[in-house]
Amino acid sequence: MDKFELPEKLKEEIRARVLGEGFMKLVQSVRRNGRQFKISMRPVEIGGERKFQAEMNDDGHVQVKNLAVNAAAQGLEEIIAQRGARDLHLMTAKGDLHLRVTRKGRIQVSRSAEMDRVALVQPHDRVKKLPLTSFDSTALLKAVGIADGEGRIKTGMRGKYDQVNEFLKVVKETLSGFEPPQDRPFTVVDCGCGKAYLTACLYFYLLHSLSFPEVRVIGIDRRADVVAAARKVSSVMDAEALEFVESDLESADSSGFGRVDMVVSLHACDTATDEALAKGVEWKARFILSAPCCQHELHKSLADRRDFSGLLRQSILRERLCDILTDSFRAMIMRILGFKTQVVEFVSSEATARNILLKCEYGVKPGQPGPVGEYLNLRDYWGVTPWLETRFGEMLAKYFRRYE
Ligand SMILES: C[S@@+](CC[C@H](N)C(=O)[O-])C[C@H]1O[C@@H](n2cnc3c(N)ncnc32)[C@H](O)[C@@H]1O
Repeated sequence: MDKFELPEKLKEEIRARVLGEGFMKLVQSVRRNGRQFKISMRPVEIGGERKFQAEMNDDGHVQVKNLAVNAAAQGLEEIIAQRGARDLHLMTAKGDLHLRVTRKGRIQVSRSAEMDRVALVQPHDRVKKLPLTSFDSTALLKAVGIADGEGRIKTGMRGKYDQVNEFLKVVKETLSGFEPPQDRPFTVVDCGCGKAYLTACLYFYLLHSLSFPEVRVIGIDRRADVVAAARKVSSVMDAEALEFVESDLESADSSGFGRVDMVVSLHACDTATDEALAKGVEWKARFILSAPCCQHELHKSLADRRDFSGLLRQSILRERLCDILTDSFRAMIMRILGFKTQVVEFVSSEATARNILLKCEYGVKPGQPGPVGEYLNLRDYWGVTPWLETRFGEMLAKYFRRYE
């Protein structure tokens, strides 16, 4: 018998505790060759059926699966058969079992006193559910390169995975109560789409999770290499209405887009974020969701202001100040143009330092004196002309004239 193999009686006990009544949770951590592999299993209820949710964490690669009873029993055999030093903690309503196998293969078992806990089986909705786990996204995540060949989130892509998930949550919240069109596709344009991480995930999320009847998502990017990569995703995923245009945003030909319902942008560089907002307004999109990226415009404008030199000397503070001012001007301009606008932190700063998102929905009266006055006061205080103001030109200027 292999030195790590558990005695038959102990294996039976583990099987009975996991597959029998009152199972609450199993967690096993295995250390081998300097790597750590952790698996946890717990009962969940999906559509009235008892299942087991297994979460595998292979040195940072996380994968979650919902297993039917047979598959869970099979998975449990693999857990039991693991080799190497390990800890196993098994909780049931009646008590806990702790198992430790040392590097030398010594097996230590301890059991808690008998308990009288209630083993609640959580409905699946109460288990942490992400937009990208709310439908079968494995093939999609592999196609865009967020997941590896085994379907695990790549370590270097975790930040992007989190950003996309959190962006999709904002999409869902924004569209709650919105009735998708029945006679044409709900159309979204992603400005500065890059390799289509958000573009493709949004397309399938709208179709498979939000159940929109017909969806068209168009990504625009000026880089030929990323557009080629993005087109490969739509071809691999056989998604005809996931389209890509290689163009500068400024000169993008939108004549074939039809009615645009939503414009999104995730980290479109510098003034490309402003251009995305401007396009959203010009295409009369009802929804505009834009997470800005780096921006340089105000840095240049404020560089010579000696009266602000104390504020601008330290580069990190200068950068943050310029970001805050730029996004404030953007939000105020969108409000003047008739969009109810919120600035939110859409994702944790661990996933990206660029975690601000402008959430705009058309529907308030444009050119109101309150927002116009607020904007002009702030703009004149700082003595700058935001890029977006210049971009909108007469569309904004007419409201300013009315105010003065
Ligand atoms: C930081 S990447 C973000 C890509 C993608 N949205 C994502 O989150 O993975 C910014 C992308 O915007 C594109 N871009 C920047 N300025 C642009 C412009 N004026 N017109 C079109 N694409 C632009 C770049 O080529 C780049 O692919």
